[in-house]
Amino acid sequence: MYWKDKVAVITGASSGIGEATARRLAAAGLQVTLVARRLERLLSLKEQIEMAGGKAKIVAADLSREADRIRVFESVQTNGGVDVLINNAGFGWYGYFKEMPWKTAHEMLQVNIGSMVHLTSLFLPEMQKRDHGHIINVGSISGSIPSQGIAVYSASKSFLDAFTTSLYRETRGTKVNVSVVRVGPVLTEFCKTALERENGGHVPTERIGVTAEHVAQRIWQLLLHPKRTIYIPRWLSVTPWVELSFGWLEDLIGPLLLKRQRV
Ligand SMILES: NC(=O)c1ccc[n+]([C@@H]2O[C@H](COP(=O)([O-])OP(=O)(O)OC[C@H]3O[C@@H](n4cnc5c(N)ncnc54)[C@H](OP(=O)(O)O)[C@@H]3O)[C@@H](O)[C@H]2O)c1
Repeated sequence: MYWKDKVAVITGASSGIGEATARRLAAAGLQVTLVARRLERLLSLKEQIEMAGGKAKIVAADLSREADRIRVFESVQTNGGVDVLINNAGFGWYGYFKEMPWKTAHEMLQVNIGSMVHLTSLFLPEMQKRDHGHIINVGSISGSIPSQGIAVYSASKSFLDAFTTSLYRETRGTKVNVSVVRVGPVLTEFCKTALERENGGHVPTERIGVTAEHVAQRIWQLLLHPKRTIYIPRWLSVTPWVELSFGWLEDLIGPLLLKRQRV
């Protein structure tokens, strides 16, 4: 009951994890604001959520642009304020960094990092003023295991990890929670989008992963029981240890895997 009619802003809600999370939170009674570029997808999701008895609002925005992020913030201002911000929008690209167009790298930095930091800087002060709220940043295990073929993506998720953990430590002891969700492979449009980009290759994990609904359920549980970090699936909590202990092995095998994948 606590979360009923609370307001959640979810970026990247037009597909995959964001879409499933929006459905899950709306089913739990939250009013969800759906943010992404593809307006028709957002409209269809809003309609489905409302038909199921939930409440949804949409803001079509390109989060690589500062002006759009500010517009998102301004358009969701309500008397009660925003209770939950889920920075989920993001995308990947697979291949040798030397073949990655700068345009793609720049856009990735703007969406995976810029949007997350900027939206947090817009929403956090207001949450801190009310001493209430939860910011959840959707990261990846590749933030802990930097891998060949996804250099900029891995680095963007390492940034997300460090930024979120720092903020967690700044806000600890208050009623504003900050969490990072470190996700392993998930069956979404992520790999297709990566492949469709200029010079993009097949992400090796494209056929494996948990469902977006599973991730959404874990995000809902995170709202109920706030924590600094969760891993999805749980067993991936070994990843920082794997990098520390077996990083040398990836140094040896990684280049061969990338070469094979690119052929
Ligand atoms: N799938 C995986 O295996 C996996 C693993 C680890 C972490 N993750 C992370 O999970 C998050 C969600 O990815 P997903 O797997 O659900 O992939 P997805 O289905 O491709 O969803 C990505 C979402 O991000 C949005 N987005 C991308 N660029 C945007 C922009 N410039 N402005 C606004 N929205 C933008 C997309 O919406 P529009 O295209 O409509 O704008 C879409 O809603 C990402 O941060 C990703 O890094 C995914």
